[in-house]
Amino acid sequence: NRPSGVSVLGTGSHLPARVMTNADIEKILETTDQWITSRTGIRERRIAAEGEHTSDLGAAAARRALEQAGISAGEVDLILVATASPDMFFPSTACVIQSLIGARKAAAMDISAACSGFLYALEMARHMITGGAIRYALVIGAEKLSAMVDWSDRNTCVLFGDGAGALVLGPRLEGRGEGILTTLMASDGDFGNILGVPGGGTRLPITRENFDQRLNTIKMLGKETFKQAVNAMTNASIDALERTGLSISDITCIIPHQANFRIIDAIADRLKVPEEKFFLNLALYGNTGAAAVAIALDEAHRSGRFGSHDKVLLVVFGSGLTWASAIIDW
Ligand code: UT7
Repeated sequence: NRPSGVSVLGTGSHLPARVMTNADIEKILETTDQWITSRTGIRERRIAAEGEHTSDLGAAAARRALEQAGISAGEVDLILVATASPDMFFPSTACVIQSLIGARKAAAMDISAACSGFLYALEMARHMITGGAIRYALVIGAEKLSAMVDWSDRNTCVLFGDGAGALVLGPRLEGRGEGILTTLMASDGDFGNILGVPGGGTRLPITRENFDQRLNTIKMLGKETFKQAVNAMTNASIDALERTGLSISDITCIIPHQANFRIIDAIADRLKVPEEKFFLNLALYGNTGAAAVAIALDEAHRSGRFGSHDKVLLVVFGSGLTWASAIIDW
């Protein structure tokens, strides 16, 4: 019983209530609102409260997506959670969310592909549905990156934030577009050293020494990451268009990973599209890792940036390196 395609049945997102502005960061670090805004486009970010976990953010986003889809948690067959800041190593954050929302019959697991994880999860869930193995999937991107940054390192801590986005996937709906037209994912482990959290795993466990060197926090070579991000996301966008036989003018809205507006600028240049075609919310949330594209998709959808039969291009990049893209005929 294989469906002819896969539709997005609902989207949702959730951001923690606490806002941290650039002016707030000026008080704890040698930095300025002017530097952060002009180099990144970020004006503020959301910070989870103590006791508010990645799973709580993900569960709240999932509930909103299910509500919009008109699907109950009990009908969900699969929960995939893309995260680089899981509640703990195991059990997976997906299993924690399963319990929080009461999705009793679902299989649940996390996807580890850093900021690209949400589109990796989308591709996997899509193929599980078209293969006939499952009917409804909950795909979630959730992060509490504020717990992973070194708050004394101005090169990184100003960039990241917390939040979650989710979507419900299911068999294609009548009266809607064709659904997911293409998904692609790619990696290059040779560049694993430019962005990551080196410590806290089994290679460099948390010892007092490793902790004092803050090896359990995000380390990034900014310029190299910037270059790789522009190349990978440009190429992944072109690949997705070629696979579907579409041209960029057929796309109503581009939803990119939200890391730096100058990265988007460079991609817009290379794709020869006006920046207005991109949906951006990074000024308000910063880089929320695997959640970024999921939150942006929900906000763009709910604010009417696109509707039924419009084509949406999603494109992401992250540590690994990993990158991915998708085109959805809504
Ligand atoms: O989600 C994964 C994807 N992540 C990304 O795509 C991030 C990619 N990288 C970037 O977005 C940019 O490289 C950054 C925003 C991280 C940095 O921007 P940049 O234009 O590449 O700056 P830079 O690294 O060349 O640093 C320029 C200067 C340095 O000072 P010196 O060495 O020139 O004296 C930094 O120390 O800016 C300094 N700097 C800061 N100054 C004030 C770095 N961070 C700050 C800061 N406030 N927060």
